[in-house]
Amino acid sequence: MALTIGIPRETAAGEKRVATVPEVVEKLIKLGFKVAVESGAGDGANCSDDAYRTVGAEIIVGAPKLWAASDIVFKVGVPTQEEVGLLREGGNLIGFIWPAQNPELMQQLAAKKATVLAIDCLPRMLSRAQKMDALTSQAGVAGYRAVIEAANAFGRFFNGQITAAGKVLPAKVFIAGAGVAGLAAIGTAAGLGAIVRANDTRAEVADQVKSLGGEFVKVEYEEEGGGGGGYAKVMSEGFQQAQREMYAKQAKEVDIIITTALIPGKPAPRLITAEMVQSMKPGSVIVDMAAERGGNCELTEPGKAVVKHGVTIVGYTDLNSRLAKQSSTLYGTNLFRLTEELCKTKDGIINVNMEDDAIRGLTVIKDGVITWPAPAPKLPAAATKPAAAKPAPAPAHGHGGGGAPTSAGKTAVIFGIAALMFLLVGAYAPAAFLGHFTVFVLACFVGYMVVWNVTPALHTPLMSVTNAISSIIAIGALVQIAPPLTEGLDRPDGWIRWLAVVGIALTAVNMFGGFAVTRRMLSMFRK
Ligand code: NAI
Repeated sequence: MALTIGIPRETAAGEKRVATVPEVVEKLIKLGFKVAVESGAGDGANCSDDAYRTVGAEIIVGAPKLWAASDIVFKVGVPTQEEVGLLREGGNLIGFIWPAQNPELMQQLAAKKATVLAIDCLPRMLSRAQKMDALTSQAGVAGYRAVIEAANAFGRFFNGQITAAGKVLPAKVFIAGAGVAGLAAIGTAAGLGAIVRANDTRAEVADQVKSLGGEFVKVEYEEEGGGGGGYAKVMSEGFQQAQREMYAKQAKEVDIIITTALIPGKPAPRLITAEMVQSMKPGSVIVDMAAERGGNCELTEPGKAVVKHGVTIVGYTDLNSRLAKQSSTLYGTNLFRLTEELCKTKDGIINVNMEDDAIRGLTVIKDGVITWPAPAPKLPAAATKPAAAKPAPAPAHGHGGGGAPTSAGKTAVIFGIAALMFLLVGAYAPAAFLGHFTVFVLACFVGYMVVWNVTPALHTPLMSVTNAISSIIAIGALVQIAPPLTEGLDRPDGWIRWLAVVGIALTAVNMFGGFAVTRRMLSMFRK
């Protein structure tokens, strides 16, 4: 029997988001589910009861009735004790949980024999999990909104203008931390016409900053800032000193600073000191996105916009709620994508498959048993090994290197067998075949090495481009179909030509599909 997905009204003070929107409800119903929405749940995000009703949702008045009617509850905010009390015995809950910060909540949910999927525990490094990544979608919206808040508090244009009344210089914006929110802020500020600079401890983001129209400002101190999985680590005192000097210089020059620096599991790094604020031009603005975690700026007051030393310091912690419709739509879509993964049979029934890496990572409680933290997901070698770019030591040399002698030995045996086979082919096959065969083997080897060393996040563009390139097969097939150019040569047999026709048809799928996907990906970056 089809399960009912329940959408309660969010209860946290000031929370305007809702866990799904009418556009997404339609898709959930197509997956075979029934959807029940608490009356007024979407009010803050401009989604009326009627809008939900029109697409087929049932509207239920009052939280107790809604929770009682729901087999699966979709939520945004961490559930309160009262809400846990309303959850059905053995029910399912999907939303933000933050298990490390909420051990008591975990115990209460486990006592309810619930199955809980914490969207904040999604293994983000899995490329196929990106469509479900609510942390990313929400941080992107918040980064955008941070720039809008800055523009609101700033007394000038962002873009430079030459008007009859005189020349207006573009605003200078400095973004501290170029993670998800930081990159969204860079793109938005550059789009508004400002001069944008950014800094991050992870040097690898420099190209992303540039591609969004920003300038990457380096700290003159050599230290690797990546802490693994795309996150930062706490930097050495020497680095921090050099960074403070660079930030102090930027503070004097720029009009707006947006700080987004975050190190998972640690308090927000203090980057902007009171002296730096004092050194800024009057009328300047700081938006401190890390306000909730203690702030990147010493003078931030969480949840408030205050003016200190003539500088407006915005410490709002509800940037997503300030763009509730957008945040809810993206969040709802993330949850829908997750539901698709849970219900591959499209019959309105979920299967929490613990063999699936993404689902395993998300599932923090299964039928009352706490399954958090999940073991690290299996990743392709490139994502797990930081030094993956370096080729493995050549096994042909016979050095075990003290590392893994058995695997080195195995590789040597495989290479030996391959070499023997190659020798046999060389001895008996025609010369032309040997040439083609050598190219084929080398192409396989190079292709394998290239793909293996690419970060999982880049697999989709890589696939689309290699699809397009592999279309070279079409040329080979065309040669087989066309009449021979040299007289005296036989036209290939009928079956070879038919094989070539099939080859062209399959390659066409690759060719056009590859270009279509590449185009779609590029269009995401176009305005
Ligand atoms: P993220 O982890 O993707 O990005 C944080 C970036 O800060 C990383 O690129 C990291 O390398 C960088 N970083 C760490 N230490 C640094 C340092 N000392 N100097 C320079 N860069 C440093 O995180 P995300 O998702 O972009 O979130 C950013 C912040 O925004 C978080 O603090 C998050 O809690 C906050 N946030 C606030 C919201 C609000 O309403 N105020 C809403 C959503 C997110």
